[in-house]
Parts: sequence; C-alpha cells; structure tokens
Amino acid sequence: MIETIEKHRQDFDSRIHSSSEPLKQLRIEFLGKKGCIQALMKDLRQASPEEKRQLGKLINDFKQYVQNLLEEREQELKKPEHSSKSESFDTTLPGRREIAGTLHPITQVMNEITKIFMGLGFQVEEGPEIETDYYNFEALNIPENHPARDMQDTFYVEGGAVLRTHTSPVQIHVMENCEPPLRIIAPGKVYRCDSDISHTPMFHQIEGLMVDKNISFSHLKGIMSIFLQEVFGKETKVRFRPSFFPFTCPSAEVDIQCVICGGTGCRVCSQTGWIEILGCGMVDPAVLKCVNYDSEKWTGFAFGLGIERISMLKYGINDIRLFFENDLRFLKQFRSVC
Ligand code: PHE
Repeated sequence: MIETIEKHRQDFDSRIHSSSEPLKQLRIEFLGKKGCIQALMKDLRQASPEEKRQLGKLINDFKQYVQNLLEEREQELKKPEHSSKSESFDTTLPGRREIAGTLHPITQVMNEITKIFMGLGFQVEEGPEIETDYYNFEALNIPENHPARDMQDTFYVEGGAVLRTHTSPVQIHVMENCEPPLRIIAPGKVYRCDSDISHTPMFHQIEGLMVDKNISFSHLKGIMSIFLQEVFGKETKVRFRPSFFPFTCPSAEVDIQCVICGGTGCRVCSQTGWIEILGCGMVDPAVLKCVNYDSEKWTGFAFGLGIERISMLKYGINDIRLFFENDLRFLKQFRSVC
C-alpha cells in the first residue's frame, strides 16, 4: 500500500503544474468520491489495527498534501499574468508610434550632391582630417610664409600637423596614387578657426577633380552648370567670376542668381542679386608637377564647395549653427528618403 500511495503522489506531482490539465479533473481523480484516496481508504479496512494507524496517517498526509497543492495552484492561476490576454489587453487604447530617426540635413545634401556627380562619372574618395603642412598647403602651391595662407584660419596640431582647412589635400593623395585620367569627388569635414552665423569651426566640403587629355575651362563650366541646376532647379542662372586660388589657374568663383529674391536684390545677396556658391579653376601646372603628372599631356579642373552653405540656401536657413545644435524641432523638418 505504501508503494501505491507513493505512485499516486508521483502521478499527482507530475500533473499539477501542467498547464493543459484542468485542476478540476485532478480534484475529481484524487479527492472525489470515486477518487484514488477514497479507494485507498476502502482498502485500509482490511488492514490490521496496527497497520491501520500507520497507513491511515500516510493516506491522510497525502490527502492534505493534494488539497494544499490544489489550493495553491488555484490561487496562482488567478493572478493577472495568468489571466488570458483578451481580458487584460485594452484594444481601444491608441497605439504607440515608433519614431524613426532621419539622416541629418547635411548628410542628406551631401548624399544628393554625391549622387549627381556619380551620375557624371565621378568616383568618391576620402582623405585624412589631420594633415601635414605638405598636403594641406605646400603641394597645393601654397609655400610657407606665402600670404595665401592667410585665406584660411588654420588649427595647428602639436608636432606641426594641421586640421585640414579644405578638402583640396585629397586631390594630392589621389593624384599620387592614381594615374590619369581620373574623375573624383571627395566629401568630408574641414576645420577653420572661425565662428559666427555663417561660419562654424568644423564644416563640410566636397572637392572635385577631373584630369584627362584636353580638359578645358568649358568642361568645368559645363559640369558646374549642370550640377547647380540639378540642385537649385533647371532655371537657375549661373555666372563665373575671376578669382584666385594658389592651386588653380585660371581660378573662378561661381555665383547663382539669388534663390531668395530671384535676382532683384535682398539682404541675403547683399542687394547684388547673386550668391557666391563655390570656388574652382584649372589645376595649376605647379600642382601637377608636384605629383609627377606631365602637364604638357594632362590638364584638369578642380572645384570645392561648402555643404552647409548650399544647404542654407536650398532650405532658406539663416544661421549655420542650427545644424549643430541638435534641436529635434529643427532636424525633424528634414524627413526624407535620401
Ligand atoms: N579649397 C578651396 C577652399 O576651400 C576651394 C577650391 C577647391 C578652389 C578647388 C578651387 C579648386 O576655399
């Protein structure tokens, strides 16, 4: 009989925590009138008085055990986490929207410009942000003590290196490593010690360089016009003004007709009707010589533009610092798929 009790206990133990078994069923099987505990009681009648005392206690203990566990389990199943989902989930509550981040407007404009140039056959290149004096100045025909260095307010790093003041050093890296013909753009961060509503100490530029046989100023004009009309609209008027950069000759600055007033004159274009947008020119033979390109055989043009400036004009933003304040109310306005 002891073994039978033990077998029932094992059976009960294995079933009490199973979620598929209704407790009611267990209660009937173990505690019911025709249940196994009653059957044990019946069998007990045949036992001797001595055995009755001993076995009776065992049966009673088992009964108590079954009752306690059934009680406990019932309480447990009543707790909220066990109640079915449809009862606890309020389907009338409004949903919680996941807010996805967006690309920074500067990244978006950079991607847009990169895409335009890739469509014109340009490859994307990168270069270091900490440069030697040689790459940032010297190889670009800006010798030490030359007044042209004043054009750029340089951050000097200990040991004579500089934070690159423009993306033009990438021109030198690329020409040192590749044979012409080549057509590249180099987007990236540049640094100048300057800060006001239209300057930040770090900003972004895209450099462009094309070297091939018989490249002339008209190729430069064509490419710049296509690019600017792609960004600012097909009707955008573009003009080239003579300028100076030590690494290009001849050099030019490119203006577009003011996107704010349409050319009639306003505060943004200082009443001129034109807005300066980028610098460019034909690669100076001195630069080609520096990278061992034969300037009799190869010619090229280069250009450099500021992404923040283009973004400000494109979106009518009047303070460059807005790009770097991380104010979500500002950034959220540039949701795009770019
Ligand atoms: N590097 C020049 C600047 O930062 C721009 C430029 C690039 C001009 C290439 C001419 C050719 O002002």
